[in-house]
Formats: sequence, structure tokens, C-alpha cells
Amino acid sequence: MTQQEPHGGKLVHAFNDRYDYHSIKQEVEIDLMALNDLQLISNGAYSPLNGFLGSQDYDSVLHHMRLDNGIIWPLPITLPVSEQAADLLTVGDPVKLTFQKNVYAVLHLHEKFRPDKQLEAQKVYQTKDLNHPGVFKLNKRPEVYLAGPITLVKGIHVKEAFSPFYYSPRESRELFVKKGWKTIVGFQTRNPIHRAHEYIQKCALEITDGLLIHPLIGETKSDDIPAEVRMESYKVLLNQYYPYERVLLGVFPASMRYAGPREAIFHALVRKNYGCTHFIVGRDHAGVKDYYGTYDAQTIFKEFPEREIGIRPLFFEHAFYCQACQTTATTKTCPHNKERVQLSGTKVREMLREGKMPPAEFSRREVASTLMKGLRTSSN
Ligand code: ADX
Repeated sequence: MTQQEPHGGKLVHAFNDRYDYHSIKQEVEIDLMALNDLQLISNGAYSPLNGFLGSQDYDSVLHHMRLDNGIIWPLPITLPVSEQAADLLTVGDPVKLTFQKNVYAVLHLHEKFRPDKQLEAQKVYQTKDLNHPGVFKLNKRPEVYLAGPITLVKGIHVKEAFSPFYYSPRESRELFVKKGWKTIVGFQTRNPIHRAHEYIQKCALEITDGLLIHPLIGETKSDDIPAEVRMESYKVLLNQYYPYERVLLGVFPASMRYAGPREAIFHALVRKNYGCTHFIVGRDHAGVKDYYGTYDAQTIFKEFPEREIGIRPLFFEHAFYCQACQTTATTKTCPHNKERVQLSGTKVREMLREGKMPPAEFSRREVASTLMKGLRTSSN
């Protein structure tokens, strides 16, 4: 069976736990976002990247959404460290990358450079506003970027709540073959699965062999529902309302950037590396507040030939429950406008935190009560 080709043609594998790094003297401490990226570079999820971007690739990504060699890549994957730390490192020599003092990887240091963060913010997030969580994070991270290929030398710990659902791109590809799925639709989320999400997933599943529900479990903004709490609600929902043999729940350990359109392309390419052939892009994908237009994350796909993206985006309009139709629908399928049950994600998160049940048309009872319980325990 022919499988989905990885982005750039080959899945990167940059893990070697027998790598002898003990004689390497240089070392630098990295942040959690970089640790997450390390994991995703080393297991091939970010193929064709085999390390953190150098300045030529970085400039090309900012200006053209492509690597210097022309391959589509919309987000700069960078390794920021402080100026003092960077000054101690010699280009050309390997560097141990530590997180909480444990060595996780070796960086073959090709370059250090100072980015123009204002430009990066404008290009990637379309704003310099520090109220945007991605821009805030970009500015909070240190000021010098280290670049070069990496080798992961120690497996990164996956929390117990997630480990049964952790599949590397190689593993998910193997599973898809075992299940005999030829077409697989990927679903990215940083939220619980409400009725609208369920509707678009199931519409997609009508025309594909399998569904990969792939919640992001890396860093998210503080008012998003914690991944551990969401995980319980996914399990409850899938057990009761999804066909077991046609759905795979897997975790995606990246940090959320909230970069809207660019992140939608990134999310699609990465899911292609996990073996998906289709990818759902609904309303305001990876958006936050009103920084992006509702369908900007869909129209950006038109900027690239589908052959080069290599994964088919499935676009969905805003879905809601309509009391007149008595079903979930979108403006494409429902003629009413007064009878729609619509709530913002923020409002629902507020209700759940206050222990108030959102309408059943918005969220399944089992999901809402699992979330409320989880939120109570996680805030204790
Ligand atoms: S995201 O930041 O991970 O994109 P979220 O978890 O809310 O946020 O969305 C997951 C996917 O579902 C995205 O593709 C998003 O566009 C889509 N989506 C969320 N809510 C709706 C909705 N009401 N109607 C249509 N698509 C939606």
C-alpha cells in the first residue's frame, strides 16, 4: 500500500541514545517550547527540518513561507538563548542542550544570530501587539537564536496521562497500515471536543477511512483548558460516540503559537508527516481573539499549489446547532439564523470553570461534566 509521502520526501530520524556526548564541554539550558520542538524534530514530525533554523532559512520562512531550498515551511522553529549564554558558545563545535539540567540533545552549532523580533511578530502573527499570546511569548524568549542540526540523546518524558496516546510519526504510519486505512483525516485541537467539532470530524470521516484526533498537549495560553483535563473528556466522548475501529486518538506535543493562517499550514504539514492524507481546517483555525479573519486560515492554502502542500485540506464553515433544523449544521446547510445555539469558546470555558453546564446542543453532557470535574481537581 502506498503511504503518504513525508514533507520534503523523507522522515527525519534524529534520536540516538548511545550518542557519547560526555566529552562535549559546551552546554546551554533551553526552555520548554524548545524542548517540545526538539522532540518533534527528532521524531520526524517536523520533517524536513533536522534542527533549528539558520538565518538564511529563517529569513526565507519569514518572507516567503518557504525554506531556503524552496520547500514550504511557514513557521520559524528557533532556539533562543540569552546573549550571555550565546557568548560562551563557539560556532562549529557541538553543544549539549539541557532542560532542568538534564542533557537531552546535542546541537551541532552552525550559527548564532540575533533576530528582528518586531519583524518576526509582524510576519508570523500579523501584529506586534503584546496582548497576542504568540507575540508575547516571542518577546519573552531570549534574544539570540542558535542554529544547526540536532541529535536527541535522551528520550523526553511523556506524562502518564498522555503516554498511551503518544505515537511518533513512524508509529502512527505503522498503525494506519495495520488498520488498512488509505485515507486518514487529521484533526488538530487545543480545546475540548464540542458538538461543532464532532460534527465536522464526522462529516470528514464520511469520506475518509480513518480519523486521527490529534490534540495539542504542549504549552497553551493560561485560560485554555489544560491538556490533562481535555484528555479525559476525549476518552469519554470517543468511548461512547465514535466508531472505535475508525478513530485513533494521539497526542501532539507541540506548543501552541496562535499564528492563525501560518499555523494552519504548519499543522497540516506536520499531520502529513504523521501519515494523514487529509486535514480539517474549520473556522479561525489556531486563531485568538480577532487577530485573524474567520476564514483566513483557509484562504492561505490558495497561496500554494496543492501538490506542494501534499495533504488535502478539508474546509468547514462555522458549525452550530440549529434549533429549527434540530441538528448541527453550517451556513452551507442551514437556512435559519435566529435559532442557532452559538457560544464563544471563552464563554464556555468560563461556564465550565464556574461549574455551569453549557447547553447540551453545544457540548455533550458527559464531556461537560468530565471537564468540570477535571477543572475542579486541577485548580485545587
Ligand atoms: S485550534 O486553535 O486548535 O485550531 P480549536 O481546538 O477550537 O482551535 O479548533 C480545532 C479545529 O476545529 C480547527 O480546525 C477549527 O477551525 C475548527 N473549529 C472549531 N470550532 C468550530 C466551529 N464552531 N465550526 C467550524 N469549525 C470549528
